[in-house]
Amino acid sequence: MARLTSIFFGLLAALFVSAAPAPNVLENRDLLGEIIDALGIGLVTKINATITLDTLVTNLLFINFEAQNPLIFELTIDQVSSTAGINGTEYAAFNYTFPTPVVVPPLGTANSGSIPNVLLTQGAIASLNIIPLGYLDLLNVNVNVRALTIDGKLGIPLVITGLHQNNVSTTYNLDLTD
Ligand SMILES: *[C@@H]1O[C@H](CO)[C@@H](O)[C@H](O)[C@H]1NC(C)=O
Ligand SMILES: *[C@@H]1O[C@H](CO)[C@@H](O)[C@H](O)[C@H]1NC(C)=O
Ligand SMILES: *[C@@H]1O[C@H](CO)[C@@H](O)[C@H](O)[C@H]1NC(C)=O
Ligand SMILES: *[C@@H]1O[C@H](CO)[C@@H](O)[C@H](O)[C@H]1NC(C)=O
Repeated sequence: MARLTSIFFGLLAALFVSAAPAPNVLENRDLLGEIIDALGIGLVTKINATITLDTLVTNLLFINFEAQNPLIFELTIDQVSSTAGINGTEYAAFNYTFPTPVVVPPLGTANSGSIPNVLLTQGAIASLNIIPLGYLDLLNVNVNVRALTIDGKLGIPLVITGLHQNNVSTTYNLDLTD
């Protein structure tokens, strides 16, 4: 908690003391490191993938994920680019800019909402055997977040690259409605 408190005051200082907060924060490697560590420990707690009949043809599916914020200030996610797989083999990849940024409350969680066009990089058929495993490893996650937002507004923009996270609980739904 002491560490988190120091991040909080570090960010506050960066926000209010400097007229140009972003470069100031980026110079503070300790602070950036703390945020990266916190997000790397577990930005994503659950993945929920929806497979449609089209998936078999297009190799594309929808996902949504549960994001958690281990920090004591609000985080807002603007953009995510991620690859996921099993044992280092990539099965899925997407890049997505949220039309409505995802606001994750302090020490809270938020759902990403539906993310379309997630590509099954090995093809749909080859991916069927990962479904029963019920988890995915996030191999490389790049996020554009803003720290210290207020209801998703303002905040300090940070680009965090190269996060990875093993064993993220994953559910698969079959949607045959279209
Ligand atoms: C997964 O997403 C689908 C489609 O958005 C939704 O209907 C379902 O309730 C979600 N399941 C879980 C466990 O969140
Ligand atoms: C992943 O690797 C471990 C150790 O190398 C192996 O025991 C396990 O069966 C592998 N799992 C899959 C799904 O390939
Ligand atoms: C995501 O963007 C990266 C970098 O621009 C690109 O290499 C990759 O192919 C894209 N992935 C998808 C699934 O569009
Ligand atoms: C993955 O997480 C589940 C619970 O969420 C746990 O039971 C399982 O042992 C974990 N597997 C590995 C390889 O860490």
